[in-house]
Amino acid sequence: MNGKVNRVVLIGTGAVGCSYAYSLINQGVVEELVLIDVNELRSEGEAMDLNHGLPFAPTAMKVWNGTYDDCQQADLVVITAGLAQKPGETRLDLVAKNTTIFKQIVGHIMKSGFDGIFLVATNPVDIMTYVTWKESGLPKERVIGSGTTLDSARLRYMLGDYFEIDPRNIHAYIIGEHGDTELPVWSHTTIGMDKLESYIERNDTYNTGALDKIFENVRDAAYHIIERKGATYYGIGMSLVRITRAILQNENSVLPVSAYLTGEYEHNDIYIGVPTIINRNGIRNILEIELNDKEKNQFNHSVKTLRESMAPLFE
Ligand code: 2OP
Repeated sequence: MNGKVNRVVLIGTGAVGCSYAYSLINQGVVEELVLIDVNELRSEGEAMDLNHGLPFAPTAMKVWNGTYDDCQQADLVVITAGLAQKPGETRLDLVAKNTTIFKQIVGHIMKSGFDGIFLVATNPVDIMTYVTWKESGLPKERVIGSGTTLDSARLRYMLGDYFEIDPRNIHAYIIGEHGDTELPVWSHTTIGMDKLESYIERNDTYNTGALDKIFENVRDAAYHIIERKGATYYGIGMSLVRITRAILQNENSVLPVSAYLTGEYEHNDIYIGVPTIINRNGIRNILEIELNDKEKNQFNHSVKTLRESMAPLFE
């Protein structure tokens, strides 16, 4: 890590990558942003377009269309490259094709001498983060997946909408696979300092039944969006900026990213969404919260599903 100016290299300038880049520029988080894409013309055009907005950005920065050599000086490499879900496809359907793409990309990045932090967003994100960790040989703390950060944001937004409360005062987490087997941790959800259950008990207007529907909408949000507009990108773009800020500004923020488990939640050798503390070194530690029996079973099922999808990759 160079320690002078913060450099992010973005691999993949599709809709997700560009939403991230646009959001990053508007929030003034880094000094240097390098774009790389297999379609060089595309990333060149994106760099030009983004540069033309810099006079209106909150901080000075440089944006350019680069090469893998630029990774050598990077603090953070963010990967959004790969195939995305089509209508009707699950995230896990993408595993084989995106693994092949990742092996090449991570190989190029490591050849540059990169020694920073990886942030992975490509789906199925928990598995692609595992592949990145394996292929890079970097310590597990420095290989991070976006995990259930977006799902948790969706949950907070939808709960905020239902209770008419600022989502920033809703502390709610989705953990597990970023996908169909994810779960809400209702047992630790609070509105301000108030337990969700107590809040509902004291207010006749609300009922716990509505929570199931809210969770279903969170879990299936990507399907609902893909059916309508073909892809999701703004939400994930902003989630990636949130994680980027926590890393580069050494925030020690609690975020539910995809992290490598070594015994936490009674599992080993798997990347999955869990609450973590994120700072300049990557994942400082995993928060091991006490889950109730139902949540434990759901989490175990999520681990099992990921393991089954990963098994063919490492045979
Ligand atoms: C999302 O949840 C598709 O994983 C992407 O928006």
